[in-house]
Amino acid sequence: NTRVLTGITTSGTPHLGNYAGAIRPSIQASLLPGVDAFYFMADYHALIKCDDPQRIARSRLEIAATWIAAGLDPEKVTFYRQSDIPEIPELCWMLTCVTAKGLMNRAHAYKASVDQNIARHAEPDDGINMGLFSYPILMAADILMFNAHKVPVGRDQIQHLEMTRDIAQRFNNLYGRGTDFFVLPDVQIDDDVATLPGLDGRKMSKSYDNTIPLFEGGSKALRAAVKRIVTDSREPGQAKDAEGSHLYMLYRAFATPSEARSFREQLEAGMGWGDAKDALSDRIEQDLAPMRERYADLMAHPERIEDILQAGAGKARRLSQPLMERLREAVGLRTTP
Ligand code: TYM
Repeated sequence: NTRVLTGITTSGTPHLGNYAGAIRPSIQASLLPGVDAFYFMADYHALIKCDDPQRIARSRLEIAATWIAAGLDPEKVTFYRQSDIPEIPELCWMLTCVTAKGLMNRAHAYKASVDQNIARHAEPDDGINMGLFSYPILMAADILMFNAHKVPVGRDQIQHLEMTRDIAQRFNNLYGRGTDFFVLPDVQIDDDVATLPGLDGRKMSKSYDNTIPLFEGGSKALRAAVKRIVTDSREPGQAKDAEGSHLYMLYRAFATPSEARSFREQLEAGMGWGDAKDALSDRIEQDLAPMRERYADLMAHPERIEDILQAGAGKARRLSQPLMERLREAVGLRTTP
């Protein structure tokens, strides 16, 4: 069977980018025959950038409810909370000890923070914690723990997957002795989504505060957010540059190819931005409306989500515990008599 795995950091409210980039493709993948799917709430990752315990707890609930509302079947998928699997930080440490510091120096997220500091004449590492620096190693542990073949993610995660492969290869070379411990995982990226733009046209991201929330605030909040998407100043009646517009990129991420083509033609024929925004909201709503009720129902019953996550942790640990035993032995922490 093909193992598919992905996670979402529990530091914010799920947005359209998370949905189109990770949640929707991972649910589609989980429905294919011959697939074992592993999906999780990356709450250890959340600690790197969020020191508000309530926000982390709330975000975990929202993300779990979103995933289930969007169609994840917890009976079929192994669905868990990262911090319920103590083998993950243990593996993370083993991987940390075989990872070159130079590899981490090249990580985009770390480099971007350093560049920001330099731009404002601060110390290069000002405000950067070790969690951020070694973030990709924890992510490698998530993926390698369950030997995932495919990882459905947005484009921003490609480098992390490359690093995971590097780290896995290094571990295999050092300790494998003919048998590989780890599969080298591949990214799975939907080209029609790639990087979903946010309200201001930059990548939709919690850290840019430019997101369109999936369910929180209901359809009213979604429509209001879509109205705030930045467009150029072309008037109704004037032809629009559809391919270059964020509105079209968002529409394409939700529509069928033929719907997207017709939307593009209407823009090129002069549809006004106001009408285009209404059409975008309608199209997104068509997909989300049925899920929103399930979402609200789950949010009202956190204990049900907790039960699901506990069951998921049990399933996950039936795999992570024996692998960890083999790994402890491989590196010399244990010997079998
Ligand atoms: P996170 O929480 O930032 O984002 C979760 C997923 O959503 C995707 N995504 C987007 N896709 C398209 N357009 C966007 N604007 C957009 N914004 C976010 C992300 O690419 C991601 O797939 N490090 C990961 C979480 C993680 C993980 C893992 C993922 C931890 N361990 C192991 C895969 C495998 C993260 O912070 O994603």
